Amino acid sequence: MKLEIKTFPNEILRQKAEPVTEFNEELHTLLDNMLETMYDAKGLGLAAPQVGLSLRLFVLDDMPEPNKNNPMEIINPEFIEKEGEILEEEGCLSIPGEYAFVKRYMKVKVKYQDRYGNEKIIEATDRLSRILQHESDHLEGTLFIDRLPNTKRETIKKHIKKRINNGDYKVTDE
Ligand code: CO
Repeated sequence: MKLEIKTFPNEILRQKAEPVTEFNEELHTLLDNMLETMYDAKGLGLAAPQVGLSLRLFVLDDMPEPNKNNPMEIINPEFIEKEGEILEEEGCLSIPGEYAFVKRYMKVKVKYQDRYGNEKIIEATDRLSRILQHESDHLEGTLFIDRLPNTKRETIKKHIKKRINNGDYKVTDE
């Protein structure tokens, strides 16, 4: 089932999400629905707050085309190593149509749980590393525009306002 993606400035995107404690059927259905929603929206990642749930989990695929070949489910992530620096262009399904260069760590090591509650560790560089950082930010109520220089962030906010007035940017309810 496809879920509604909440867009900036929805308040849910600003809340710190709660740890997942129940690894049950309900969680599995949510993860399945989030992957379906992410692929449908042609995103590389989708975090629970983006579908209106304040939970510490996200899904991603750093190689969605052409075969959706690397779906991942990350629950209760924790960074255990961060290193280097890289500047690349980034977007977000919750800020559709806006893109900017964002500074991130080049390489990260993340501890997390899978859908059954098993502990896992992943080491990532490049695109996967960037997605892990972007999606983990969502769990803290942080958006990529928060990581931009003030002038750039204000330009994007102004642009969104203009698009809202033109009916060209979908604002979502609580
Ligand atoms: Co995002």
